[in-house]
Amino acid sequence: MGKASKTNKLGKSRVRRAHNIPHGCKGFATATVAEVSRLLKSLRARRLLSVVFIEKAVMSETNPVERPEAAPVAIIAVEHVFKSVTDSTGTLTILRDIDFSLAAKETAAIVGASGSGKSTLLSIIAGLDTPTQGTVRLAGQDIFAISEDDRAALRAQKVGFVFQSFQLMANLTALENVMLPLELSGTRNARALATEMLGRVGLSQRLGHYPKVLSGGEQQRVALARAFVVQPAVLLADEPTGSLDFATGETVMKLMFELNQELGTTLVLVTHDQSIAAQCQRKITIEAGQVVPQNL
Ligand SMILES: Nc1ncnc2c1ncn2[C@@H]1O[C@H](COP(=O)(O)OP(=O)(O)OP(=O)(O)O)[C@@H](O)[C@H]1O
Ligand SMILES: [Mg+2]
Repeated sequence: MGKASKTNKLGKSRVRRAHNIPHGCKGFATATVAEVSRLLKSLRARRLLSVVFIEKAVMSETNPVERPEAAPVAIIAVEHVFKSVTDSTGTLTILRDIDFSLAAKETAAIVGASGSGKSTLLSIIAGLDTPTQGTVRLAGQDIFAISEDDRAALRAQKVGFVFQSFQLMANLTALENVMLPLELSGTRNARALATEMLGRVGLSQRLGHYPKVLSGGEQQRVALARAFVVQPAVLLADEPTGSLDFATGETVMKLMFELNQELGTTLVLVTHDQSIAAQCQRKITIEAGQVVPQNL
């Protein structure tokens, strides 16, 4: 099947469904493919450009000694986030006053007992769930002060998310699942990039397989490849090695830290694995919906 017909087969509606993009989303429906392509394909270049820009600004200072130390811009700022849910049995407070920030390129592990609120927190950071109080800023942008459409566009541009339950599209093959975010961004060589990324997670032999015939660990790796392939500024992963054997888990961790080193990707990993947590610069322990203070 030719490239063009394959692209048509994926189609906008599938891309829309897979990314939960409502009709009328500005970032997708009204931008031309070329515009979105230019925007997203330049993600890496723009980051490099901004470094050059900052360096030039610093170099052009006439008196750098008197220049105040610039505070590092938080790529993620979680500001006094509370989350409660109410049903017929009453109100359950899942998160209480979570407040921390991460600088670009930082790596953080979120750890805590089952049911402590880790997945809920990660979903709120991604803007997939909403806080009852407080907010989250992504590269300075309050993600809950903008429309749902704009939030989806921002997420597509900056965030890779690996769900605890993978959330692959059942009616798409492994390759098509990984191609989806690239199709969304109008990236021309989606097939080649997706194929390469699936190779990096050890799935070169599984490109044409559908999720239902893949093992849990293979599905997890497809989900990881789908999150990695757009080279996001922020990678949020919920127990990314939870279904993997030791050796494959090591390979995936290596890939995540390579992404962190090569592209400056900020990593936030929910994990029960203390050895993974030890590889991260920050460890944020959640206990009954609160950050344990000594870990801040
Ligand atoms: N929509 C909801 N309605 C009711 N309770 C919820 C809802 N979402 C989450 N919870 C509850 O909030 C608590 C935290 O859930 P969460 O999935 O964030 O935990 P977790 O720390 O990720 O756990 P695990 O390590 O088992 O994945 C759990 O007790 C869960 O049952
Ligand atoms: Mg969880």
